[in-house]
Amino acid sequence: MPIIELKDVSKLYGFGDATTVALDEISISIEKGEFVAIMGPSGSGKSTLMNIIGMLDRPTHGQYNFNSRSVARLRASRQAKIRRDKIGFVFQSFNLLPKLTALENVALPLAYKGMLHGRRLKQASVVMERVGLEDREYYFPRQLSGGQMQRVAIARALVNNPDVIIADEPTGNLDTAASLLVMELLSDIHKSGNTILLVTHNPNLTRYASRVIYMQDGMIMHDEQTDVGKVPARAKRFIFSVQKKTEEDDLAGVSALMNALPGKQPKTRKRKTTKKRSSAKQRNRKL
Ligand SMILES: Nc1ncnc2c1ncn2[C@@H]1O[C@H](COP(=O)(O)OP(=O)(O)OP(=O)(O)O)[C@@H](O)[C@H]1O
Ligand SMILES: [Mg+2]
Repeated sequence: MPIIELKDVSKLYGFGDATTVALDEISISIEKGEFVAIMGPSGSGKSTLMNIIGMLDRPTHGQYNFNSRSVARLRASRQAKIRRDKIGFVFQSFNLLPKLTALENVALPLAYKGMLHGRRLKQASVVMERVGLEDREYYFPRQLSGGQMQRVAIARALVNNPDVIIADEPTGNLDTAASLLVMELLSDIHKSGNTILLVTHNPNLTRYASRVIYMQDGMIMHDEQTDVGKVPARAKRFIFSVQKKTEEDDLAGVSALMNALPGKQPKTRKRKTTKKRSSAKQRNRKL
């Protein structure tokens, strides 16, 4: 029985000529214990999909079932409870509260449950040890490295013992060594039975996943089971195969060149905000 099931889920932003189809009739089913990596170019709808699965946002159309129950039919308070108890979030930008210590940040979700202060800190301390930061409990976020901050964020996501961890580019701001630590941690969490959804731009990180979903223009272009420990050939190809050459790309190339002048980083080009609904032919396009 799938823990997450989406049927023809669409998400539209704006209206009229300015409508953005962020998700275009997505159907997926995710079983408990899967480690799913989601790849796709900027603007392809990865975060929108994660936000809907994590109940931070609602679909415009379609059906979403969590643990076989229709999310749309749940009362807002019930949805909030599921979000708090069953789903843990990790974002690229850590999102720690600067005035709280690492331990207090980790304990925060327990406060919303009404747990007493002493018990909260005790439970948070167990998770701090799990992420290897038992000696950093009383540090403030500004006193921690990026990798340590992300491990605190993972500890906070874990403190309620959720079934699903949603990690949206958790290594996006980290160097290779810190990324590796974060990924090993997510891998451990997966091995202890959690379902993991990982959004990444880095093909190498798909080696931790048991399934890879490739998105483009709000659609799933491919969905494959993979061997943990191996990077699927498609993941390596994907980033390049989705780049179509148009006049617009040439212009973007010029601006990328301008941005690449000394001291500047090239910017990633965002997808156009308006797009027509795709044809069935496009939808079936093979990568
Ligand atoms: N709140 C919003 N209002 C309007 N449009 C939005 C909103 N959020 C997302 N979009 C649009 O929906 C599309 C999908 O965005 P989304 O953030 O899901 O992409 P993404 O795949 O996560 O990209 P990235 O890799 O850059 O994080 C984009 O075209 C984006 O501009
Ligand atoms: Mg995103």
